[in-house]
Amino acid sequence: MSQPPVVAPAPAPLLRRGSALVLLGLVALGCGGPDPGAQPEGWDSAVAMRPAADRNPDPRTFEMDLEARIQDLELLEGKTTPAWTYDGTIPGPFIRASVGDRLVVHFRNTLPEPTTVHWHGLRIPAAMDGAPGHSQPEIQPGETFTYDFVLPDAGLYWYHPHVHSAAQLGFGLYGALLVDDPTEPADIGDELVLVLSDMALKDDGALQDPQTGLDFGTLFGREGDLLLVNGKKNPIVEARAGRRQRWRIVNAAKSRYFQLAMKEHTFTRIGGDGGFMEKPVESAALVLSPGERADVLVVPRGAPGSTIAVRWVPYDRGYGTTFNRPEEEVFRVHLADAPEVTETPRPKTERTLTPLDLAGATPISLELTQGEQDGKVTMGINGVPSWEAVPIPATVGETQVWTVKNTMDFDHPFHLHGFFFQALDESLAPIRPMEWKDTVNVPVDGTRRFAVRYDDRPGMWMFHCHILDHADAGMMGMLDLQGGSGAGH
Ligand code: C2O
Ligand code: CU
Repeated sequence: MSQPPVVAPAPAPLLRRGSALVLLGLVALGCGGPDPGAQPEGWDSAVAMRPAADRNPDPRTFEMDLEARIQDLELLEGKTTPAWTYDGTIPGPFIRASVGDRLVVHFRNTLPEPTTVHWHGLRIPAAMDGAPGHSQPEIQPGETFTYDFVLPDAGLYWYHPHVHSAAQLGFGLYGALLVDDPTEPADIGDELVLVLSDMALKDDGALQDPQTGLDFGTLFGREGDLLLVNGKKNPIVEARAGRRQRWRIVNAAKSRYFQLAMKEHTFTRIGGDGGFMEKPVESAALVLSPGERADVLVVPRGAPGSTIAVRWVPYDRGYGTTFNRPEEEVFRVHLADAPEVTETPRPKTERTLTPLDLAGATPISLELTQGEQDGKVTMGINGVPSWEAVPIPATVGETQVWTVKNTMDFDHPFHLHGFFFQALDESLAPIRPMEWKDTVNVPVDGTRRFAVRYDDRPGMWMFHCHILDHADAGMMGMLDLQGGSGAGH
């Protein structure tokens, strides 16, 4: 074997895995020309996110600045929206690093109110989790805070505020964080990272009052009319028919569920919140409740030059949530004017996951409840809103089995900070195929069970409904994890 030819280094942000693979692909073809089956040039430019800039020369440390600030954006044609942004864009800068890398984020709050940054799904120390009043005090306007932690697991994660979450997130504060596993197969698919969200704007582009609809708005969970993919309305991805794509999707909407469907196409889901699943699952529709992620393979097929719509299909998450709601296009895949290529064999992404040992596990029972205080709707856990809740005790090394029962007329996507869990069925056997989760949908009148084992990261950890109007109305609690090294404090 001869040595691969020396190639000129690409600009730093491009030298991440994707481009390196393209270069390797050229070497493998041994022709130096473009791969004839490749995606059209600039195929993903309509959904490209601005990459975060790494200012640390150490390849294993990603160090960046991040500012939360108001920025005028044109989200509706010809209209100006004073959006709340990370670094001036929706979504915020796309952070991409490898598992085991250290991430240092010098954060500055230039918003007119306090905030924090929560790193959704990451198993990091409690002090870095962005839980106001627990991890850290709220970051006041004009103040700074440095987040500094090691990225422990591969997968797609995201970041968002944890103060007035429904309002701040709804105004545009969220971003994606992709943690690569350099050892995973190279040819899983041409990758798109898709941050799905929605926004509630007035006709003139102004931000809608986050309290619209009062109690009913709170109960329903406020959705915005403007559907966004990486901050764009109905963008078009150019594609080569037959060529496999890998979509890494996060639902960053504050209340909206995304059920996606494409006519005559299926989704092959290979992973979720915490990396690959035991084995892939194929389905005609893909459902992501707020906070959840999916890693899916899609092979667009059709006549050259035709367009495939990726549609939002109403998902029944309780009383009135599908009433009078048409399907909507989220984005489109436009097929290049070139013959369909033969799909290459799908590499193995199957992963061995060991069920947690439940011998001696502590049972924890929660009910998601609705209440009232001072004539206003509240929500809670076991009848108690977050501001009156007593933390659930836990010890480092302990395993718990949580049973979460929904007594309300709306679904609740239940999220636990800082730890992955394994979903269980009624007999407490793991639900197959297994995967690591941090957010699970608890349907109307339904019960969900999961097992969680606490590693050595003591501290206070939040759990809450990820319909953020519900969380803000009180559907939130704390886990008080004690013992271990105390490194989390
Ligand atoms: Cu996305 Cu408290 O979480
Ligand atoms: Cu809820």
